[in-house]
Amino acid sequence: MSVSTHGTNKIPATLIPGDGIGPEIVDAVVKVLDALGAPFDWDLQQGGLAGIAAGGDPLPQATLDSIRRNKLALKGPLTTPIGGGYRSVNVRLREEFQLYANLRPAHTLVPGGRFENIDLILVRENLEGLYVAFEHYIPIGDDPHAVAISSGVNTRDGSRRIVRYAFEHAVKLGRKKVTLVHKANVLKALTGVFLEAGQQIAKEYEGRIECDERIVDACAMQLVLNPWQFDVIVTTNLFGDILSDLIAGLVGGLGAAPGANIGAQAAIFEAVHGSAPDIAGKGLANPTALLLAAGLMLDHVGLVDHARHLRTAIDLVLNEDKVRTGDLGGKASTGDFALALVQRISGA
Ligand code: NAI
Ligand code: MG
Repeated sequence: MSVSTHGTNKIPATLIPGDGIGPEIVDAVVKVLDALGAPFDWDLQQGGLAGIAAGGDPLPQATLDSIRRNKLALKGPLTTPIGGGYRSVNVRLREEFQLYANLRPAHTLVPGGRFENIDLILVRENLEGLYVAFEHYIPIGDDPHAVAISSGVNTRDGSRRIVRYAFEHAVKLGRKKVTLVHKANVLKALTGVFLEAGQQIAKEYEGRIECDERIVDACAMQLVLNPWQFDVIVTTNLFGDILSDLIAGLVGGLGAAPGANIGAQAAIFEAVHGSAPDIAGKGLANPTALLLAAGLMLDHVGLVDHARHLRTAIDLVLNEDKVRTGDLGGKASTGDFALALVQRISGA
């Protein structure tokens, strides 16, 4: 793959091509960012299966050191091998750098789908809840899995931190409303503490950002019936995982769903989708999700004009040039789509 390396006024950032379709879509994104003149100085590192092949670890020390140094990374999807005692690389990264906020916006890219004009932001707590995976079985008789137990952990501080992040993000983007999504009617302690902390934080934003609340199951239904009533949604880890896939479905699926993992020590940008082994190496992958993640990365480092330029170019290529990959009903390859973007950006 082609990676540009440069001198001084560049922003150093770790680049992990990843597995499956990762190298193809990362290559496309790097070309588009180069055309935009985005001043990143890429520090190429391995992860996932490539990391195992190189040194036996899906998350090599050199990759961790690079992210720690640069505090900024763009990554392709990483395959976590099933079995073999490997923990999810993505969970390890979130924990290692305390990436507490998972930002997953969903924005209609191609009109004419089931829902028009969707523009939602979901903020998911990324470190706590049931995903701490404090789990065990209690054997009874000859059934070793007779009883399964899982403990969730939500802290007041963690809840405040994620809700504050959601409100600050809403202020920054000129959004109007934040919805706290919970299940405090049943999980009174676990998600009650989140709701309580959320209501406290919301008071600080009174008069600036509206706040309302939903119980998660009702929220899922309302997102399908009338998604336009929502603006920014903030919720705990498991609910956020589920609802972020739901809102990706409102805008055409995984090919269009970007994500950012944000913490005080680092920020890692990626697509929501995985390594798509079924289409890897065939030039079929849609790079849009990772391109939009790169857009979030540009916003994050304050290059908002570059980010806007990128999103406009994606819109024009999809909707005026009608260059689309197969998942969006077109015939373009990953490379065709990247080339069309480069041409749009350079005004050719
Ligand atoms: P997946 O997201 O890789 O694929 C699901 C379906 O969506 C497949 O049919 C695939 O072809 C399609 N798809 C995904 N991205 C696409 C794109 N950009 N363009 C066109 N079609 C696309 O999910 P799956 O198959 O469950 O996971 C495969 C591997 O990815 C697993 O090893 C999993 O652990 C890993 N994974 C990694 C993630 C990450 O690094 N953040 C996130 C999710 C999964
Ligand atoms: Mg998920």
